[in-house]
Amino acid sequence: MSLRDLLENKLPEGELSLVPKGFEVIGDIAVINIPPFLDNRKNIIAQVLSSHRKDIRGVLRKISMIDGEKRIGEFELLLGNSTETIHRENDCIFHLDVAKTFFSGKLAYERARIAQSVKDGEDVLVLFAGVGPFLVQIKKKRNVNITGLDSNPEACAYLKKNALANNIDAGIILGDANSVGNLFNKTFDRIVMPTPYGQDHFLNISSTVLKPGGIIHFYTFKKDFEIRHFKRLLEERGWQIKFIRNCGGVAPRVNRYVLDLQFH
Ligand SMILES: C[S@@+](CC[C@H](N)C(=O)[O-])C[C@H]1O[C@@H](n2cnc3c(N)ncnc32)[C@H](O)[C@@H]1O
Repeated sequence: MSLRDLLENKLPEGELSLVPKGFEVIGDIAVINIPPFLDNRKNIIAQVLSSHRKDIRGVLRKISMIDGEKRIGEFELLLGNSTETIHRENDCIFHLDVAKTFFSGKLAYERARIAQSVKDGEDVLVLFAGVGPFLVQIKKKRNVNITGLDSNPEACAYLKKNALANNIDAGIILGDANSVGNLFNKTFDRIVMPTPYGQDHFLNISSTVLKPGGIIHFYTFKKDFEIRHFKRLLEERGWQIKFIRNCGGVAPRVNRYVLDLQFH
């Protein structure tokens, strides 16, 4: 049953059509986009949501788009008393604070796919590691040397906690991905890059620490008409596209894509 269905007898028709159809649940917190026009209805929306879903203990209203280097938005806590939660994904657990660290459950399939592709013995680097969803799932599944890097101190603190909670060991670096060339005196068999929106230039930077024949899992955001040109550009620059997948929409006509790349 959709949120609109649940609110059917509680809001007038004109307002009901403005209620968002969907919301994301991270741990026991629902994250919802309530338009300003429904400001005076925000509490009833939160209450209906939590009384329908017994697994939801907190409701956070997103009041700004994800932005800035930490890739977090601004939120208003409508229900509950904390923005900290524990999210479960593919048999791993993640402590995180929805208001201080980036997290999206929409990449759960990708995280399982990448963990499956990795081979024992590899040296793996996860850039933009966040609270560790890629890193933890890879290390849980494969016997690899793995390092994660993120520039958000809160994300790195949760990543350390999540490594412990999932019983894995990993190198964790608080640092800027612009400096990978200076941060590492080694190269990697595989680099995972859940790259922030519009930051494609990091592909060139990370390729300086990729072993010959190594693989980069590169995530990027593109409009439908841009992807063909982008693929051609990559090929002209010497990348072989081993695999491409549309991971779903993030805004009207904008999708997140993953490209598994190998340098010729
Ligand atoms: C799109 S999120 C990906 C997070 C995580 N991998 C996930 O899938 O949930 C981007 C992450 O990149 C980090 N970040 C943004 N710019 C960065 C930079 N220049 N160097 C290192 N990390 C950066 C942010 O702090 C954020 O945690």
